[in-house]
Amino acid sequence: MKKNNIYQLTTLALCVVVVVLAYTNFSSDSAMEASNKAAVLETIHSRKSVRKYIDKPVSKDDLLTLVKAGMAAPSGKNEQPWAFVIVSEKARLDTMAERLPYAKMLRQAAAAIVVCGDMARLRNPEASLWVQDCSAATENILLAAEAIGLGAVWTAAYPYEDRMGVVRSVLNLPPTTIPLCVIPVGYPDGTEKPKDKWKEENVRWERWE
Ligand SMILES: Cc1cc2nc3c(=O)[nH]c(=O)nc-3n(C[C@H](O)[C@H](O)[C@H](O)COP(=O)(O)O)c2cc1C
Repeated sequence: MKKNNIYQLTTLALCVVVVVLAYTNFSSDSAMEASNKAAVLETIHSRKSVRKYIDKPVSKDDLLTLVKAGMAAPSGKNEQPWAFVIVSEKARLDTMAERLPYAKMLRQAAAAIVVCGDMARLRNPEASLWVQDCSAATENILLAAEAIGLGAVWTAAYPYEDRMGVVRSVLNLPPTTIPLCVIPVGYPDGTEKPKDKWKEENVRWERWE
């Protein structure tokens, strides 16, 4: 075989290798993207309020993972008016369980995250969207808990003066910090299942009628 032909064949072979490698990489990237999307939807649809936990501590790292997910939420004017109090002292969790009528599960929870609106940081608290922002952060925390195998539930503090008063006194919150909710967190005992809430009649296309 001529030297020229060998050179051309080698170049061609190299090109084929490059194309095959690029395609393999591309198809594994898009397969990964598709499986990430599926995982997000799987988490959304698997989330449920978890009120029963096994006796197992939740690590600080995992609690921080949840709070980081909370802080990644959208926020009106990007004000980020939130503050998160992580509670894992048993005595504090028990006092809140005792005094909050709809958060008795705090007694079994390994920890709780209290999502607060921090009015001290806002130029115009009256015009702030802190409730919406903190609600978005709360939902992110609930989804992140589901994603990492933890169970959690939103228990309301705001707008109930009595419940906010309990949370304020147990956590020593300043008057400018408003507790929106207490999220008990723990490893689920596995008995609670997601509810199917899909109702076609709740959807309208383009206009009401
Ligand atoms: C704003 C809000 C307040 C809630 N407050 C409480 C509460 O105080 N105690 C409680 O056990 N669950 C509370 N929940 C959880 C709801 O009961 C729960 O989301 C609902 O029953 C639907 O069930 P799911 O979360 O498993 O889909 C609250 C949920 C929301 C969104």
